[in-house]
Amino acid sequence: MTKYQDMYKGKNILAPMVRIGTLPMRLLALENGADLVYTEELIDWKLLRSFRRENPALGTIDFVDRSDGTVIFRTCERERGRVILQIGTCDPERAFQVARLIENDVAGIDINMGCPKEFSLKGGMGAALLSKPEKAKDILIKLVNGIRRPITCKIRVFTDEDKTLELCKEFESCGIAAIAVHGRTKDERQQHPNRNDLLKKISRALSIPVIANGGSREIEKFEDIAKFRKASGCTSVMLARSAEWNASVFRKEGKLPLDYMIRSYLKLAIDYDNSPSNTKYCIQNMLRELQESELGKKFLDTQTLSQMSELWGLSEYYKERSEKLSDCGLIGRRDVVP
Ligand code: FNR
Repeated sequence: MTKYQDMYKGKNILAPMVRIGTLPMRLLALENGADLVYTEELIDWKLLRSFRRENPALGTIDFVDRSDGTVIFRTCERERGRVILQIGTCDPERAFQVARLIENDVAGIDINMGCPKEFSLKGGMGAALLSKPEKAKDILIKLVNGIRRPITCKIRVFTDEDKTLELCKEFESCGIAAIAVHGRTKDERQQHPNRNDLLKKISRALSIPVIANGGSREIEKFEDIAKFRKASGCTSVMLARSAEWNASVFRKEGKLPLDYMIRSYLKLAIDYDNSPSNTKYCIQNMLRELQESELGKKFLDTQTLSQMSELWGLSEYYKERSEKLSDCGLIGRRDVVP
């Protein structure tokens, strides 16, 4: 597993984010300087219900839900070698089956051990695994031994520093390639300070790369990433909210205007036939308080990619792409008003 560690050293990484981390956002982050991008958390049984399909019209590989035909995971050549799939799981065998299904199409596989949401905790997933280290280790060991890709996990900390360090060491001993640590406990929220000192201690105690997470509150621009790296003493930094709001935070030449970023995002959503509901959700999260603006209000009324494109002067772009896709007889186009 040591051979995989370099992949996680000195990197700026897009964090896993449910509904945000779909293909267009991952590509937007990569275009703007992110080194690696995590998918949103995908639950093991959902992925196991899917089948792999190459989509020549889009140039993508899709994992499609057998029951309703929705695309659960879409990836493409442009992110090959840089996309990490995050799995939500509480079961070594199911995690292994998912990893087998997907290993050839991703650069790495991460296990979510930090999600504090009720859905995860009740299912024994996410942060629930932190209080079941034996189960967590069984999952990691099974994947490390049987999968031809680096395996990592993303955790939260405990208030007890020694307990946190001990857990990190136990996970390291499973052969994982790196560990991402959000410097808050499962009961803490974004308004609580991130425990950067503890991240530093973890980084010193482990020999695998430690990826610092939880710093978005202080990360406005590219230079702030370096400050977080320094404050946490970690080799790599993972950003969620600051990248969700404007992915050009990864850009060393400086941040780009939000309007430009939304337009770029929308182009990618059109290119890859992203679902209108997911596209709208991501743009809403970029607009934030600007949803109250004239444009924002108009945007809230949109239902299709075509309507969204109009607002950002992309009608022609949308039309051309749509014509091309329908010429290819694209299966599963989704830009229809339900
Ligand atoms: C998250 N987070 C998260 N974490 C994870 O491991 N898997 C996931 O699917 C998600 N989903 C998710 C969605 C959204 C909208 C947000 C804002 C966050 C947590 C995230 O990866 C990160 O740990 C925290 O947001 C702290 O990092 P930042 O925001 O300070 O950079």
